[in-house]
Amino acid sequence: MELCVALDLPTKEENLALIEKIKAHDVWLKVGLRSYIRDGEAFLQAIKKINPDFKIFLDLKLYDIPNTMADAAESIMGLGVDMFNVHASAGKRAMQTVMSRLEKYESRPIVLAVTALTSFAADEFEAVYEKSIAKKANQFAQDALESGLDGVVCSAFESQAIKEITNEKFMTLTPGIRPFGEDAGDQKRVADVAFAKSAAVDFIVVGRPIYQSENPSEVVRKIVAQL
Ligand code: C5P
Repeated sequence: MELCVALDLPTKEENLALIEKIKAHDVWLKVGLRSYIRDGEAFLQAIKKINPDFKIFLDLKLYDIPNTMADAAESIMGLGVDMFNVHASAGKRAMQTVMSRLEKYESRPIVLAVTALTSFAADEFEAVYEKSIAKKANQFAQDALESGLDGVVCSAFESQAIKEITNEKFMTLTPGIRPFGEDAGDQKRVADVAFAKSAAVDFIVVGRPIYQSENPSEVVRKIVAQL
């Protein structure tokens, strides 16, 4: 299991200061909508300048018509990131179009599909998708596998079942982790590190419990010790 630290701070300077604090640890960094829209490619370059070995997950959750998603995926190829994601609910044709567009590259980032956002409570999810989270997450994972993606974003509670209906190598990445039972914030389906590990999760994403702490490096150290 690997730790991916969410860089969701209000300014580029604060994100870079956080990276400086945790740079001794072997972690992935997640650049999401807030940071990427504001700071763009220059931010990715600034991260690589601190340590070129940092692996970057670009969490933009693409959702559009198939051709536009594939165009965006090709633009992402030029950024040198190691992982990005799309929404499974964009459909199999969209996911397949993205993957076939990337075939011509010798190597490509890991591509994941978002199943159910971890901020959804069960009733909120059903109001949108008209199925339970568990059922729909399984179906989205199957669609992603059949479309050639490498894995899914899901909550720790869906990870085990998804591994069973896909295969062991099909990756799960789980946000909504509160490593030692911290405040959930807007997340609804939260799990701790030990639970994620028991659910065969490949990547845990942790944001607020790290960047809102007095000592981010110590929190990262404690999480990494449990991986
Ligand atoms: O602060 P916290 O640990 O809740 O951060 C979780 C991060 O993971 C946020 O950047 C959020 O956008 C992202 N995320 C999520 N649920 C998903 C996909 C991504 O919380 N399904």
